[in-house]
Amino acid sequence: LEVQCSRNLDQEFVKKSKFKISSSIVQQVLESNQPVLTNDAQNDNRFTGIFSVQGLKLRSVLCVPLRDEEKSIGVLYLDNRFERGVFNRYHLRLIQAFADQAAIALRIAWLLEEAKKREEDLKKSQETIMELNKKLQKELEKQKLRYASAIRKASSPPTKKRPKLKHDYSSIITQSPKMYEIFKVLDKVCNSNVPVLIQGESGTGKELIARALHFNSKRKKKEFVSENCGAIPQTLMESEFFGYEKGAFTGADRRKLGLFEVANGGTLFLDEISEMDPDMQTKLLRVLQEGEIRRVGGKETIKVDVRIISACNKDLAEEVKKNHFREDLFYRLNVITIQLPPLRERKEDIPLLVDYFLTKNAKKMGKPKKSVSQEAMDILLDYDWPGNVRELENEIERACALSKDMITPDILSPTLLSGERVRDEGSKTYQGTLKEILQKEMEEVERRVILQTLERCKWVKSKAAEALGISRPTLDMKMEKYEIHRSV
Ligand SMILES: Nc1ncnc2c1ncn2[C@@H]1O[C@H](COP(=O)(O)OP(=O)(O)OP(=O)(O)O)[C@@H](O)[C@H]1O
Ligand SMILES: [Mg+2]
Repeated sequence: LEVQCSRNLDQEFVKKSKFKISSSIVQQVLESNQPVLTNDAQNDNRFTGIFSVQGLKLRSVLCVPLRDEEKSIGVLYLDNRFERGVFNRYHLRLIQAFADQAAIALRIAWLLEEAKKREEDLKKSQETIMELNKKLQKELEKQKLRYASAIRKASSPPTKKRPKLKHDYSSIITQSPKMYEIFKVLDKVCNSNVPVLIQGESGTGKELIARALHFNSKRKKKEFVSENCGAIPQTLMESEFFGYEKGAFTGADRRKLGLFEVANGGTLFLDEISEMDPDMQTKLLRVLQEGEIRRVGGKETIKVDVRIISACNKDLAEEVKKNHFREDLFYRLNVITIQLPPLRERKEDIPLLVDYFLTKNAKKMGKPKKSVSQEAMDILLDYDWPGNVRELENEIERACALSKDMITPDILSPTLLSGERVRDEGSKTYQGTLKEILQKEMEEVERRVILQTLERCKWVKSKAAEALGISRPTLDMKMEKYEIHRSV
């Protein structure tokens, strides 16, 4: 029991009022939902033996229920300890009528309070929903951009069939028509001795091509010698390439063969040729013209039969223009030029290369092959790969080390998600009627949402369908429409 409000005859607040009323009478009224009126409680049979009545020496008591439909929500309690018969039937009717009004007022107040609280809760949830919606919208927008851009970039020329080739290029993973054209050229020059210059950005596979040339030629039984011209100090270049005789200089305590002699009958791959110093350029030119070398400190000339393949990630013709590279040497080296396209210009190779590196990694680690989620693949397809295949290889290796069995977007390097793509999207041009554009954009969003949900539900279709609020057959139909499959 709780007393909400109490007054004495002088309209004063009654202290400790809870102990100054008959809780038994109050309880009875509450339970029966009927009023109690007594002229002299102490001599009323109904209350004999009731402690509170006797203890408080109650005389006149009037207690009426605050009725809310069938039950009491409280009582109005009046008493007088000194006089008998203070309250009569008339008072009872009056107080009950008042109590009935009060009960209605209370009910309305509560309802209002509840409504207000609900309104506040609703407002709060609405705000949360709006916040979440905004986040979702942003995420969706981002995903949409990413997907659209990936599609655009990946839909470069349709993959042609691998051309019929004389030689084996299976070490070079590709399905790119541009690379097939290169294979055709390689096929023609494998067995001739013409010098080949391979140009291309870092990591595009220049050395791989050079090796393919060598191992597809009659020279394959002899050495393939690879030298990075940027890595040898200028002073050691001559002895590195041409070797030296015993006693040629202090420390030369025995004869040493140079790279030309080691590569005799085989191939010498001159990587980063643009870094060769002018003096060495002149000496190299002479060897190429005469087909013979002289060891440092030696007198005799030695005939060498070496195929020269050079590589450069700068534009060598530009280096000639800038007087950084001898023009005559340039023409000597550049009989056949292979220009390797960067990875971003042959994005169709990305899935193949990813699969290849996943297999390679699994073998290396002796573990089952990992897979890449479709979302992660979209990101890989969308990225520009300034470090080309080498960068992709490193990324897959890193992701394999970090992932359990599936590579998902959160595992990929943050650089892959940087602004590049968004900038691209800014220049997106739309074509068609508004209806057509919206239809296309909506379909893209729909595809992304379905894909995301499937991935979130670990590809349990019934769960995904439930989460999306569509039926299983509808989900199947949409997956077919958007060609959604679980990725490699
Ligand atoms: N098409 C490809 N298929 C399989 N692996 C490739 C392919 N292209 C490149 N790679 C791999 O990528 C890495 C870089 O290739 P490579 O060393 O041939 O590039 P590069 O052009 O010589 O680079 P850099 O200019 O930095 O020397 C190597 O591990 C190579 O095996
Ligand atoms: Mg290289």
